[in-house]
Amino acid sequence: MLTITPSGQTLGARVTGINLAEPVPDADFRTLLRALGQHGVLCFPNQNMTPPQQRDFCQRLGRIQFSLTGRFQSAEAPEVGILSNIIEDGQPIGLADAGQDWHTDMSYTQVKGFANALLALRVPRRNGRVLGGTCFGNMFAAYEGLDPALRERLRDATAVHDFNKFWDAMLAKGSGRGALTEAQKAQRPPATHPICPVHPITGRRSLYCNPGYATHIVGMDRAESDRIMAHLFEHQLKPEYLWTHEWTEGDFLLWDNLGTVHTALADYTADEHRLMKRCQIMADKVFDPSWQQTWLAA
Ligand SMILES: [Fe+2]
Repeated sequence: MLTITPSGQTLGARVTGINLAEPVPDADFRTLLRALGQHGVLCFPNQNMTPPQQRDFCQRLGRIQFSLTGRFQSAEAPEVGILSNIIEDGQPIGLADAGQDWHTDMSYTQVKGFANALLALRVPRRNGRVLGGTCFGNMFAAYEGLDPALRERLRDATAVHDFNKFWDAMLAKGSGRGALTEAQKAQRPPATHPICPVHPITGRRSLYCNPGYATHIVGMDRAESDRIMAHLFEHQLKPEYLWTHEWTEGDFLLWDNLGTVHTALADYTADEHRLMKRCQIMADKVFDPSWQQTWLAA
């Protein structure tokens, strides 16, 4: 039986009694969507999925974004990317430093990212301690915790999100991911999104302005924009808004990008191997009224 057990903290729930390698019954899919909005991060332990099975589950939530560089895709399903620090025959098998700073996945695209899904195949440990956790921030709580005057001021404001901001920051930290070509940059033009959008599942407003990609507030003096954004970036990472997932092999983690921010903790070395399979799911279906009527109506 499908069972959802909240973490009891600001985010997170464990979901048991479901095998995601098989088609999910419609009633369970509706329950999962509501739980995703409510808890932000869902962990399905003990999952055993092939890349095509992971793709098939994720495609029900929305269109899957392919890798920009075309590297590190699963052979059986290129929609499923490979995140890893493992080197085989002198070649990396995955993107080694994905997400190692605070961000929201795919805030830089015209159609925002809805959800991300990671299947853990290898998890680094040292002296019995799990490494390479993923830390999340609750952006509903962060929005509600803003000073009411600032919340009102930002109510109809929009911000620009730029893919290059995060990529360049990783390069500046010594990432081996390589500089983007001009043609690749042209495929990821900046996008503009409301800072306090209404969430399609919960109906609550969230703070949607992450340090990884957001560059400035539209129509505002740049110095004032910088000042407010610095405040938002600091505010959204207050400890009371944060929760960390410590991975176990077989965990399938599904998180809502519209209500959270996250960072991958870079607390392990090149000899401590981590391997994840990833799908990045766009928010095309979740904002479609007919899809909402089918899957989100009570
Ligand atoms: Fe990410």
